[in-house]
Amino acid sequence: MPPLVDRFGREHDYLRISVTDRCNLRCLYCMPEEGMEFADTSTLLSYDDIVEVVHTAAELGISKLRITGGEPLVRPGLDGLIRRLKAIPGIEDIALTTNGMLLGKYAEALKDAGLNRVNISLDTLDPTRFKFIARRGDLKRVIEGIEAAGRAGLAPIKLNCVLLKGINEDEIASFLKLAYEQPMHVRFIEYMPIGHADDNWRNHYLPLSHVLDTAEREGYTISRRTNVKGNGPSDDWQMAGGAGSFGLIHPVSDHFCKSCNRLRLTADGSMKPCLYWVDELNVKDALGDTEAMRNIFYRAMDLKPENHEMAAKLADEALSHTPTDRRMSQIGG
Ligand code: GTP
Ligand code: 5AD
Ligand code: SF4
Repeated sequence: MPPLVDRFGREHDYLRISVTDRCNLRCLYCMPEEGMEFADTSTLLSYDDIVEVVHTAAELGISKLRITGGEPLVRPGLDGLIRRLKAIPGIEDIALTTNGMLLGKYAEALKDAGLNRVNISLDTLDPTRFKFIARRGDLKRVIEGIEAAGRAGLAPIKLNCVLLKGINEDEIASFLKLAYEQPMHVRFIEYMPIGHADDNWRNHYLPLSHVLDTAEREGYTISRRTNVKGNGPSDDWQMAGGAGSFGLIHPVSDHFCKSCNRLRLTADGSMKPCLYWVDELNVKDALGDTEAMRNIFYRAMDLKPENHEMAAKLADEALSHTPTDRRMSQIGG
């Protein structure tokens, strides 16, 4: 079977699978406070459907999976799905992106099912500010979730911190201190303008150059790091003498599309060749037909654009494609 190589020579071995668009938080960069219209659960791919898609994906060279949401742990029985996915020949690594609220409850079961790693969203270390950013839930539960993931051996733990101008930019030094003192990898992420009206984004977008400036100001001796386990877009750094490390994910100011190796499957059954653009392929139409399913993957390779042009959007220049109107929670990040 020919491997998944797109028009620009990029090989694809990584599939991000969203299992739900629902979430127990309402992070201000992701969802409106009042929530949104969630997909009817009857329209979601079933776990049987997802296993079928992954069988074909693995045959075509996909070896790494990431389970995402919304918040993936709000969908019941996720450990059962992970156990089934891990048993598929060719699948080597399964990771989960979660907000951590339910990890205290599920970390052990997930590890037992074969989950390798977790990336946990954590945008602030201040409980009051957590309520402001996430609008629901509480910081204490997320910290307990992070600890439970550590105890269960879901390593390395990565923390995802979306930097927001005027909201949490004063915490860069605290997050660097955390990465210095604890064996965790903290990734600072640029706020991306995905699927929603832009005022919030324009007001709170912060380029990540601030992180390296802060590291220098705080007196850390930093150098590039290349061996952080993962498949993602992070530009990784270590601090001399530090227990952990930090990374920068800067899709807006300096995109990493040249090395993109990923495809996305939404919870309602669309294959997305790129996070940012509107193009999608309907996987449901191909269920039960292996040849048609393979063709979805090959057509995704043909459709995949060279890059996302978010910077053009920032500068208000004309875009060559139409940006998606799905929000992050409806794609899976
Ligand atoms: P690792 O395998 O651990 O490296 O994971 P990852 O960084 O790929 O996954 P994660 O779900 O933790 O994503 C972290 C951030 O990177 C999120 O804000 C994602 O939306 C963003 N991100 C991941 N992949 C892409 C991508 O292909 N394009 C863009 N623009 N952003 C991405
Ligand atoms: N910009 C950047 N990151 C985002 N995430 C959600 N919405 C956005 C956005 N607009 C992050 C979450 C999570 C990951 C899946 O995506 O914080 O860590
Ligand atoms: Fe939920 Fe993640 Fe969106 Fe926050 S970023 S509202 S945790 S899906």
